[in-house]
Amino acid sequence: MRLVLLGAPGAGKGTQCKHIAAQYRLLHLSSGDILRKERAAGTKLGKKAQSFMDSGALVPDGIILEMMTKAIKKAPAAGFILDGFPRTVNQAVELDKSLAVNNRKLDAVLNLKIDDRIVAKRMTGRRSCPQCGAVYHIDNLKPKVDGLCDNDGAKLVQRSDDSPEVVANRLKTYHQQTEPLVDYYKNNGTIFDVDADRAPDEVGALIFQKLDDLAKCEA
Ligand code: AP5
Repeated sequence: MRLVLLGAPGAGKGTQCKHIAAQYRLLHLSSGDILRKERAAGTKLGKKAQSFMDSGALVPDGIILEMMTKAIKKAPAAGFILDGFPRTVNQAVELDKSLAVNNRKLDAVLNLKIDDRIVAKRMTGRRSCPQCGAVYHIDNLKPKVDGLCDNDGAKLVQRSDDSPEVVANRLKTYHQQTEPLVDYYKNNGTIFDVDADRAPDEVGALIFQKLDDLAKCEA
């Protein structure tokens, strides 16, 4: 399967992608995670992306397209799930073109729908593990031991772009530049809306139901 998970910042894309990738053995490719790794490693790419990410703006398409096209080429036969990419109509057009070179296309786009006020609370309460990338929330998804990752015991950290000011900018950027993708995929593919204002397990169950139905239709 070749899937895209769309949704506002904090809609729960990363949380759900981890479960979807495990269930269907897909490669989970998060453009945000790749950029954060590049930044942590101090690479040229990471340095170029830094100021855009810190202000809540999008990293220029040229940088993102090169980075993601390279990553997608490493996907196993089972497929991939893209998280945070594409994020502009131009990125979506270029993704479609690069898949078409190998006679491929996306199987489905899942659109996590949620109100801005809810995602703002989710992001300011998010804590992540700097080692394994696991994501928690101070109220909604607490680790077993306060402040420590369940998987490896590392001290959880807050993302630098999760401050209220940057979150407000990220939401603005989403509505201006990423939301138009919903119409793009309505006209160019299979898109499913998913109610993301539910408990994580319930959102996951809605997604699995849609993907299982899709797999049955294609069998
Ligand atoms: P990126 O890392 O992609 O950030 P984002 O899209 O803003 O998404 P988030 O990671 O903030 O949220 P999420 O939807 O994954 O939510 P999560 O599951 O963590 O991008 C960061 C930056 O990189 C961008 O601003 C941009 O600068 C740059 N960038 C990345 N891709 C780019 C691209 N393609 N083009 C250009 N620039 C790009 O959940 C959030 C919190 O809520 C967590 O605490 C979680 O525990 C909790 N939670 C999750 N689900 C639920 C639920 N159902 N109920 C209650 N709480 C929940």
